[in-house]
Amino acid sequence: MNTLLHLDASANRSGESITRALSARFAAAWLDANPTGTHRYRDLAADPVPALTTEFCAIGRRVEQHPPIGRLGVDALLESEDERADWRVTRALVDELVDADTVLLGCPMYNFSVPAALKGWIDRITFPGVYRAADGSALLAGTNVVVVAASGGGYGPGTPRAAWDFQAPYLRAWLTSIGVPDERIHVIRAELTLADLAPGLADLRPLATASFEAALASLDAVLPACVPAAMSAERTSPKE
Ligand SMILES: Cc1cc2nc3c(=O)[nH]c(=O)nc-3n(C[C@H](O)[C@H](O)[C@H](O)COP(=O)(O)O)c2cc1C
Repeated sequence: MNTLLHLDASANRSGESITRALSARFAAAWLDANPTGTHRYRDLAADPVPALTTEFCAIGRRVEQHPPIGRLGVDALLESEDERADWRVTRALVDELVDADTVLLGCPMYNFSVPAALKGWIDRITFPGVYRAADGSALLAGTNVVVVAASGGGYGPGTPRAAWDFQAPYLRAWLTSIGVPDERIHVIRAELTLADLAPGLADLRPLATASFEAALASLDAVLPACVPAAMSAERTSPKE
């Protein structure tokens, strides 16, 4: 069974959110192409994951002393009911990520980085040792990640703020650190989304439109990599 884990992090839950619109479009196309697949959805802005606790840190510090252990290994290290309750919260979120074949992250740029709602999820699920199997192999080696990003300004190569983008490079570094191969990380960004609103950016409106259209095309282009069942059905179709 193919599973899409779809997370949105924009605080804007109206129809105006670009990342929500693009991630919804990708999810709909994914379901069309993969009708037997499972679509799991989390709205991190509406339903943030629980904040980290002293118990979370205590478990992490103990795990650091006994690596590598995987998810089951953490269960064996818990020392109190409070730790067990805290780990249950983490474990459910980690399991959800490991079970996904494709992860879709709707991620606006906030202050040159990712929204706090997404960072809260990242901090909660980035737990030492849990993304490795007993033989040391990466559990996320076959996971595709599609990051649907949006930014009010532009950060492309050669632009004045190119070096201020701590969103896409950060997400790529974090995903790599938990074992997602670089070639499976697809960052798609609609830039200059504030050009329609901000008078100072009016000259950039054509570029904003082009960026949005390029994002739509990139989403379509990345879809086949995320629906292997559909691709193999195509390969064995009578047309060939
Ligand atoms: C709190 C906040 C911080 C923002 N910080 C930045 C920023 O640092 N750089 C930028 O280019 N745009 C910034 N923006 C603009 C958003 O990235 C842009 O409006 C984007 O389209 C928001 O995503 P959404 O349309 O899915 O809500 C910020 C917006 C908000 C609400």
